[in-house]
Amino acid sequence: MSEERLKIGVFDSGFGGLTVLRALLRRLPELDFLYLGDTARLPYGSKSQSTIARYALSSTRFLIEQGAEFLVIACNTASALALDEIRASTTLPVLGVIDTGVNEAQSGTRTRDILVIGTDATIGSHAYARASRARGLRAMEKACPLLVPLVEEGWTDHPVAAEVVRIYLSELLAQAAVAGLKPDTLVLGCTHYPLLRGAIEAAVPPGIRVIDSAEATADRVARTLEPRPESAAGTGERRFFATDSVEKFQSLGTRFLGSSIRNIELVDLGG
Ligand code: DGL
Repeated sequence: MSEERLKIGVFDSGFGGLTVLRALLRRLPELDFLYLGDTARLPYGSKSQSTIARYALSSTRFLIEQGAEFLVIACNTASALALDEIRASTTLPVLGVIDTGVNEAQSGTRTRDILVIGTDATIGSHAYARASRARGLRAMEKACPLLVPLVEEGWTDHPVAAEVVRIYLSELLAQAAVAGLKPDTLVLGCTHYPLLRGAIEAAVPPGIRVIDSAEATADRVARTLEPRPESAAGTGERRFFATDSVEKFQSLGTRFLGSSIRNIELVDLGG
């Protein structure tokens, strides 16, 4: 790693990882950030493991070529299905979002029963169930494949989105009850879902804590980088890369990041 400002590469299949970047920028404003949204190949969540791994590897290779010295895989699907391949491909530190999300759930749960929602690929991999079991938690998982397109469409406050969320979560709560679980935590296992947080919180009983891994991931990165050089001060450089429409990245991305995005470069990573 360089003596000066560390460059952190943040990768997602699209826009959702900007919720993680937002948390990172709050904690580590002095660092340089490179963000890649592989929007041309999104969604990853409906694809096979080998395709997800191929896309994730070419994306992280690109960030390394741009000078990234620390990689944050701000995509649940890539973290669930490609983290081992990414780690095997580089000597740089690589952090995914599954462990940080489950650690956050573990620190708050009293019943040790948790619910997890995510894409088809993430839920099919059972990465959350494994990570939960390893910490002595029981997890009931559910794929919610309609939620990413609803967010992509901008329907985050739309009654249709609220109804879809309500149906998915009532099914999940019923499955958990049949299995004898008493969940007190719901993990948003997809970086798009924080945009539907209002509808999600309205659809679960008040005793259930809803968590997303963005804050926990940013905390973990900050702790890993301690102590940071005293020279690190001010505001670092931010560069954004998208593999499809820069205009769409700018308008939708602003909603995920919570502030306007400039410096978006279009890149071609192939098919
Ligand atoms: N970013 C993905 C995730 O967190 C959701 C979007 C996709 O399916 O590519 O799982």
